[in-house]
Parts: sequence; C-alpha cells; structure tokens
Amino acid sequence: MKPGPTATIYRGTPRNLAALARRLRAGELVAVPTETVYGLAADAGNARACRAIYRAKGRPATDPLIVHIHSLAELGELAVPNGAARRLAAAFWPGPLTLVLPKRAAVPDVVTAGRGSVAIRMPKHPLLRRLLKLTGRPLAAPSANPFGYVSPTTAEHVRSGLGRRIGHILDGGPARVGLESTIVDLRDPAAPRLLRPGRITRLQLEKVLRCKLAGPAGRSAKPGAAQIAPGQLARHYSPRTPMVLHRRLTAAAAAKGSRADAWIFLRRPSRLRGPNIFWLDSQGRLAGAARRLFSVLRRLDGAGYSRLHAELAPPGGLGEAINDRLKRAAAA
Ligand code: TXA
Ligand code: MG
Repeated sequence: MKPGPTATIYRGTPRNLAALARRLRAGELVAVPTETVYGLAADAGNARACRAIYRAKGRPATDPLIVHIHSLAELGELAVPNGAARRLAAAFWPGPLTLVLPKRAAVPDVVTAGRGSVAIRMPKHPLLRRLLKLTGRPLAAPSANPFGYVSPTTAEHVRSGLGRRIGHILDGGPARVGLESTIVDLRDPAAPRLLRPGRITRLQLEKVLRCKLAGPAGRSAKPGAAQIAPGQLARHYSPRTPMVLHRRLTAAAAAKGSRADAWIFLRRPSRLRGPNIFWLDSQGRLAGAARRLFSVLRRLDGAGYSRLHAELAPPGGLGEAINDRLKRAAAA
C-alpha cells in the first residue's frame, strides 16, 4: 500500500488560524491543542464532519464526543444547564472540566452517539479559544489519537498517530495539564457522578457542589460488554508494551530488576541511575508527573523494552487521575 501524504503542522499565526477556521466551517477536520491533550475537531453542528472524526480515529460509533464552546451562551444552546452546572462552570471554566447534561435538538445524534445527553467543555488554551471564536461554531473533539492508544500531548504525537488520516494540525506546544479533562455527569443535579477523574479533583468539585460525588463506576467494563459510561473501557490509553504497576517502587527493586525492562519512578530516585531508569517529575510533583506521563509512555513504548514498570501516585487529589490512567494503560 502506498502511504498517503502526511498532515501539515501549523503555527498559531493569525493567518493560519483564519485559514483553519475556514476549513472547520467547510466541514474539514483539524487537530487542535487544548490544555489537557490534543483534540481532533470538527464543526459540532455538521453531522457529516463529525462522522469523519470517528472514521479517522477508528472510534466505535457508541463512544460520544465532547463539544468545545467559546462562551457560556453556547452552553444553553446545546444543553439544558442546571444550578450545579452553572456553579461548576463559574468555578472552573474555561478549564479542564467537562459537564454531561441533557442535550438540545441542535446537537446531532452522531455527536452524542444517540444519547439524550451531551458532554460540554470550555477549554482554556489561548490558541483554541481564538480558533473557536474565529470559527464561530462549537467544535466536537475527542482526543486526537487512534482509538485505544495513549492520548497526544504534542502536535508531533498527533502526526505520528493520525498523520496519514488527517490534513491539518494546529501546534499549541506541549499540553500543560497532560491528562484528559475531568468529566462530571450532571443529568441529575441532586446526584452528580464523576465519570473520569482529571486535573480538577474530586475534592475541588465537592467543595463547589457542597455534596459528595459518586463514581467512577469500577474498571470492570470489557470491550463488547454493555458500558455503564461510554468510553470507560478498562483497557484504554494503552501502550503496546506490557505494564506492571507498583504501589511503591524502590531503587533496590529496580536495581535488581531486568535490564530489558524500563522503570518509571514518580520522582527522581536518589543514587540510582541507568539507561532504563526514568522519572515523571524530578521532585515528584503530581502536576509535573501528569504533564509528562503520556509522553513518557509513548517514548518508552517505542524503545523496545520487554515491560514498563511504573510507580502509582499517592491516592487522592490529582493522584486519582494519574492512577486511573496508569491502571487503564496496564489493563490486559
Ligand atoms: O480533555 C479532554 O476531554 C479531551 C480534549 C480534546 O478536550 N477530549 C477527550 O475526548 O478526552 P475523548 O474522546 O478521549 O473522551 C470523551 C469521553 C468519552 O469517551 C465519554 O466517556 C465521554 O467523553 N462522553 C462524551 N459524551 C458523553 C455523554 N453524553 N455521556 C457520558 N459520557 C460522555
Ligand atoms: Mg480519548
């Protein structure tokens, strides 16, 4: 098979942004930076364009897309917000938080995979905000990776995964958060559920909502089984190299361990060095670990190791999101 042409990566100049906005309005796909991970965007009101997102990613038609908005006015056009949604939006938007709410007719079925609810987020990345404004339409965008693989946090990651299936990638630099947005189900405002942990933590949400959050539902969902929440397959965000998780990783264990394996610490281990020793943040700061997790997994996945050993974060706070992604990456 002859390989197709590869996608062009654009810098965020005013001219490029205007041209990419025209492409989006014409129904083309554009990969875009966000503060969490890169997304593969299309006009959310254009069903044909949104179908092309599923095709490019190889994503099952049952897994709905997140709609990205520029202003709060758009929230009420796409969804039916309640008091809890308004409070969370006021506290955390623009930012890495997605709200699931009853949908309005303006949202095509393909975006929500036929559900009566829609997931909405107002992103913070300045280039994406400018592009949203220029396009003048909400943009549906899942993470810009082939279905099931690790989410992209740089324009190069997008090109390496989807470069032969899409034409255009806007480069906004490495993603600042590095993990996908927190998703909260607010269909019933009296019983909010955390569907996916992220940078906005459970505790931050509970403080604003003044109640406990249920969920996420266990990790038992298997491909093909009826899913409680869409996109919550146990195996997701997965490198191809087998992964082993450790509640606590010691320098001694890594030093005795196989040279054919890679060892990923949360913080730089004192006194242990080697070509197969890695860490997510020199000080073990969780924000830094979250930011680098996916790029480290990608790099090591391509490096020919037999197994990747990774240290789990302390539970709670941002650790809940980091451990969620590590467990999905390690699920067989
Ligand atoms: O940070 C993010 O959220 C990134 C950037 C691009 O914004 N997007 C992202 O999209 O992570 P994706 O496709 O990888 O995950 C979207 C997930 C779906 O898998 C599903 O779990 C959830 O959003 N979702 C979307 N619509 C939903 C709905 N109506 N009800 C419940 N969950 C929904
Ligand atoms: Mg994804």
